[in-house]
Amino acid sequence: VSERAKLVRVLSGEVVEPPPVWIMRQAGRYLPEYRKTREKAGSFLDLCFTPELAAEVTLQPVRRFDLDAAILFSDILVIPLALGQSVRFEEGQGPVLSPAPIDSVALDPSRVAEKLAPIFETVRLTRAVLPRDKALIGFCGAPWTVATYMIAGRGSAEHLPARRLALEEPARFQALIDMIVDASVDYLTGQIDAGADIVKIFDSWAGVLDAEGFERWAITPVRSIVERVKAMHPRVPIIGFPRGAGARVGAFARETGVDGVAIDWTLPMRDACELVPASMALQGNLDPLRLVVGGAALDAGVDSILRVMRGRPHIFNLGHGITPDTPVENVARLVARVRGKVAD
Ligand code: CP3
Repeated sequence: VSERAKLVRVLSGEVVEPPPVWIMRQAGRYLPEYRKTREKAGSFLDLCFTPELAAEVTLQPVRRFDLDAAILFSDILVIPLALGQSVRFEEGQGPVLSPAPIDSVALDPSRVAEKLAPIFETVRLTRAVLPRDKALIGFCGAPWTVATYMIAGRGSAEHLPARRLALEEPARFQALIDMIVDASVDYLTGQIDAGADIVKIFDSWAGVLDAEGFERWAITPVRSIVERVKAMHPRVPIIGFPRGAGARVGAFARETGVDGVAIDWTLPMRDACELVPASMALQGNLDPLRLVVGGAALDAGVDSILRVMRGRPHIFNLGHGITPDTPVENVARLVARVRGKVAD
C-alpha cells in the first residue's frame, strides 16, 4: 500500500504539521536547469508538447527543493490552441492569440483530447518516476480567465474586452464559456486518467468581475467543471484559485464544490479562515516579492502565515507565481523555514 501524499490528506480536511509546501509556477525561468531545457526545446510551446522534456522540467524543482508536490508543466492556453485558435508566446510580451476576439462558432471542439495527448503523456512519464508520497498536480485555467485571453488576444488591462463582450453579448459569451468548460473537463480528466493525483483550476483574473459577473462567469463555470470531473473521479481533490476575489472566496468555496481554495497574498489568511468552512483546506499565501527579497522579509512572512494557519488544513504556497528574478537560494530558505520550528 502506497503512502498517501500529504497534499491529498490536507485536501480531505486533515491537519498536517508542518504543512506540505509547493510553489506556484515552480518550474520556470528562475531555475538555471529550466532555462537549459527550455533552450533545448526551442519555444515554450514546443517544451509543453515534448513529453520527455516537459516531464524533466516538471521534476526539476521537486528534485532541487524536495517539495511535496510536482505540478504538470503545461499551460492554461493549450485549451484555445486545442480548440483551433492560434497561440504564440512572444519573448518579453507574453501570449498572443489570433484571430481575436474569437467566436465559438469559429472553433472546433471535436479534437481537443487528441491534440492534448502529448500533455497526458507528460503526466504518465512524470508519475512513473515521482515518488509516491509526492502529489502530482494537474491543472487548467478557469473558463473566465481563458476567455479573457481568447477575446483580447493577449493580457489586457482590467480585461476590458472580455468584460465588455460579456455585458454586450451575453449569449455569445456564454457559448464560448460553455465550449471552454467542455474542453477543460477533457483536459482535466485526461490528466487524471494519466495519473494526476490532484487538479487545480486557476482563475487568475476572477478579481476584475463585479458581483453578478463573479457569480455567472467565475462561480458557475467552475462549478460545472467540478461536478463533471467529480462524477467521473470522485476521489480526486480539486483546488480552486479565484485570484483577487477578496471576501468572495467564501461564496466560491461554498458554491463551486472544490475541496480547497488557494488564497492570493492580498487577503489575510486570518480573513480567509473566517470566510471558508473550517474543514476546507486553504493554500497560500506568501507575497512572491518576499521570496525575491529574502532574509527577514521572507522569514517574517512565512512565520506569520504558519502561526495563523496552525490547527487548520493548510498547504503552504505563494499567493501567486514565483517570478523569474527570484534567487534560487531563497526558495531553499523558504522550504526549510516552513519545515522548521516556528518561534512564537
Ligand atoms: O511550474 C508550473 O506552475 C507549471 C506550469 C504552468 C505554467 N503556466 C508554465 C509557464 C502553470 C500552472 C501555468 C498557469 C498559467 N498560465 C496561468 C495561471 C496562473 C497564473 O500565473 O496566474 C496563466 C494566466 C497562464 C498564461 C501564461 N503563460 C502567461 C500570461 C504567460 C506569459 C507570462 C510569463 O510568465 O512569461 C505564460 C507563459 C508561461 N507559462 C511560462 C511558464 C514557465 C514562461 C514561458 C517561458 O519559459 O518563456
